Amino acid sequence: MGWSKERLEQVAQTRLGGAKLIVVANRQPYIHRYQKNGEIEWMRPAGGLTTALDPVMQACGGTWVAHGSGDADRQMVDEFGRVRVPPDDPNYTLRRVWLTKEQEKGYYYGFANSTLWPLCHQVYCRPSFDPAHWETYREVNELFAAAVLEEARGGPALVFVQDYHFALLPQLLKQQRPDLVVAHFWHIPWPHPETFQVCPWAKEILNGMLGNDLMSFHIQHHCNNFLETVDRTMECRIDRERFAVQRNGQTTKVRPYPISVDPDLATEYLGDEWLARSIRFRKQHRLGQKPILVGIDRVDYTKGIPERLHAVDRLLDLYPEWKGQFHFVQVGAPSRTELDTYRELSNNVQNLAESINLKNGDDHWKPIVLLNEHHRPEDLFMLYRMSAGCVVSSLHDGMNLVAKEFVTAREDDQGVLVLSEFTGAARELTDAIIVNPFNVDQMAESFHTALTMPADEQRRRMRKMRAQVNDHNIYRWAGMLLSEVGRLADEAEPVESEDMDLPSRMPIQVSTANGSAPHQIGLLSGMRS
Ligand code: F6P
Repeated sequence: MGWSKERLEQVAQTRLGGAKLIVVANRQPYIHRYQKNGEIEWMRPAGGLTTALDPVMQACGGTWVAHGSGDADRQMVDEFGRVRVPPDDPNYTLRRVWLTKEQEKGYYYGFANSTLWPLCHQVYCRPSFDPAHWETYREVNELFAAAVLEEARGGPALVFVQDYHFALLPQLLKQQRPDLVVAHFWHIPWPHPETFQVCPWAKEILNGMLGNDLMSFHIQHHCNNFLETVDRTMECRIDRERFAVQRNGQTTKVRPYPISVDPDLATEYLGDEWLARSIRFRKQHRLGQKPILVGIDRVDYTKGIPERLHAVDRLLDLYPEWKGQFHFVQVGAPSRTELDTYRELSNNVQNLAESINLKNGDDHWKPIVLLNEHHRPEDLFMLYRMSAGCVVSSLHDGMNLVAKEFVTAREDDQGVLVLSEFTGAARELTDAIIVNPFNVDQMAESFHTALTMPADEQRRRMRKMRAQVNDHNIYRWAGMLLSEVGRLADEAEPVESEDMDLPSRMPIQVSTANGSAPHQIGLLSGMRS
C-alpha cells in the first residue's frame, strides 16, 4: 500500500497513542503581515521545510512551535502566542515565540546562518565564529525549550526538532523532561569531522544533539559524517552495529530519512487554469513560444545560481544556434537579506544576468529573465509545468525539494531535470541529467541535451522519477520516522555504561497534569499498536 495522508493519520494515531506531537522549527508555516492598506494578509514562506512539514502536521495534528517573525503575527494569536492554522482551514496549532531584534540577529542571522550554515555546506564560504552570536544562540534555544515544555505540560509527548537552529534544544528538553521522546531532523548536510571540528563550540553542539533519541539526516553519508564527528570529539561509546551513540545513559540512534514532497499539492496548485495563467506569463515577460529552462531558488550561495548563469553564457558560445531560441527563467526568492553575503550575491546575480544578456541578447531577445521576488506556490508550479527543463545546480544541498516538486508537477511525463550531483536528491532521481555545477562546460552541454531530448526519452526518464517521488513521498518520510520512534520505545532499556560519569537511565517518572502522584511510563505512553 502506498503512503497517503490517510495512512499517515492512522500510523500517527497508533504510534503516538495519545501522546502530543510538537514540531519545533525556526520558520513558521504561515506568516501574518500588514499590507500597504493596513489589512492583514497571511502567506507561506519560501523554503522546503515548511512546504514539506505542513501536510504532515495537517495529517497528524499537534503544535508547531516557531519564531513569530511576521509584523502582524502578534495581532492574530491568543494570550499564549497560539493561533490555529492553516488560516483558511484550521486543524493544528501554531505557537509563536517572540524574539527581540538583537536575538534574531545573534541567533538566526548570526550563529545559525553565518556559522552553522557555511560550516555544514562545502561551498568555500568561511564561517564566522563570534562568541556573542553563540551566547544568543544558547539564549534562544533556552527560550524555545521553555515554550516547548509549556506545550508538552501534562502528558507524554514526541518533540520533533527541525534543523540547525536548535542544536542545543534536545539536551535542554531531556534535562527537564527525560520522559519526552525527542527526535531531530537536520535539513542540511553534515560535513566531514575535520571541517566541523574547527568550530570552537563543537563539543557543546554535539552534546546538545546527543540529547535526542533519534538524530536523522537526509542521506547515509551525512549520518556517517556525524557519527565520525561524535567519535572523534566526544567521550562516548559508538555502536556501529545499531548505528547509535551511547553517552551518559542516553542512546541516540542516527538514521537517514530522505525528505520529500506531497505529490497531491501539484494538482492543487496547478488547478484547471494553469495553462491560461502560463499564456499570460509568457506575454508579460515577452517569452513568445520559445522553450524555457527554469531555476527556482532562494537567493543563497549554496544554490549555484551564478554557476548556472555562466553555463547559459557558455551554451551560447558552444551552440550559437540557440541565440534567440530559448529563455532561462530564474526565480530568486530574496532570503536572509540582512546578511552581506546574501545581499552581495543578489547584486552579483543581477549584474551577471545583465552582462550575459548584453553580450548575447538584442532588442527583441534576452536569454535570461531574472525574477527576484517571492512567488506564490501556484506560480511556481505553473513554471515547472510550462518549462522544457528545470535546473537545480546546488553546490551542496541536503536534499533540494525543488527537484522533487518539478517532477510532481509533470503529470504530462515531459520535461527534463538537470540536477547537481551534490544534492541529496541526486541519490534518488537518477534519471535526471546529473551534473557537476562547478563544471561550466558540462552544465552548458546538459542544457543543450535538455533542450533537444526526444519526447520518448523524456517520458521514460520522467515516469521513473515520478514513480520514485510518488512512492517516497512526504507521508512515507513522516510515517517511517514515527515508526522508528515507535521502535525506540520498544528498545527503551537502561543503557549499560562503563565509562560514563552519570548514572544509567532511571525508570521515567512523570507528574500528572493535576499534580497527583507521578506514574511510570515508557518513552511514549500507550504508543504501541
Ligand atoms: O534548507 C535548510 C533550510 O533551513 C530549510 O530547512 C528551510 O526551508 C530553508 O533553509 C529556508 O531557510 P530560512 O528559513 O532561513 O528562510
